[in-house]
Amino acid sequence: MDKINIGFDPNSCQKINTILSNIIADQYVLYTKTRNYHWNVTGEDFIQYHKLFEDQYSAIDDDIDEVAERIRALGGKTPATLGEFLKSTTLKENPGEFPLAKTMIANLLTDHETIIRNLRKDIEICDDLDDVGTEDFLTQLMEKHEKTAWMLRATLDN
Ligand SMILES: [Fe+2]
Repeated sequence: MDKINIGFDPNSCQKINTILSNIIADQYVLYTKTRNYHWNVTGEDFIQYHKLFEDQYSAIDDDIDEVAERIRALGGKTPATLGEFLKSTTLKENPGEFPLAKTMIANLLTDHETIIRNLRKDIEICDDLDDVGTEDFLTQLMEKHEKTAWMLRATLDN
């Protein structure tokens, strides 16, 4: 841990950084899964889904950077290896499976909803630790996932 003096005890910082590290692990898996679907989607709506998935993985990529840099701002080192991400993630990969577009959408929706539920618990922990900065940051991140989940859900509804 870097030495920082921001009115926040090192133990709490450590706990928050563990939470943020676990979030990055899920984000990285979701980023990769969304990118996989961008590459491998097929069907008459190919272009629509290809572009939708690109928008979504680009947004996740931006979010990953924000979370990673927040860990640094709180004095921690950001985990940045695929091995660590796979060890910590709560999401599941499906190697060798290339589902239909609608199943891809449903799979991504499931993952966004998992992340939303995880974030809701994480926000509670930040509240208990009086880390208003991370609480606000994660609330905004959760809202982004809620919006993406709505879009995926709406895509399934036809
Ligand atoms: Fe591409």
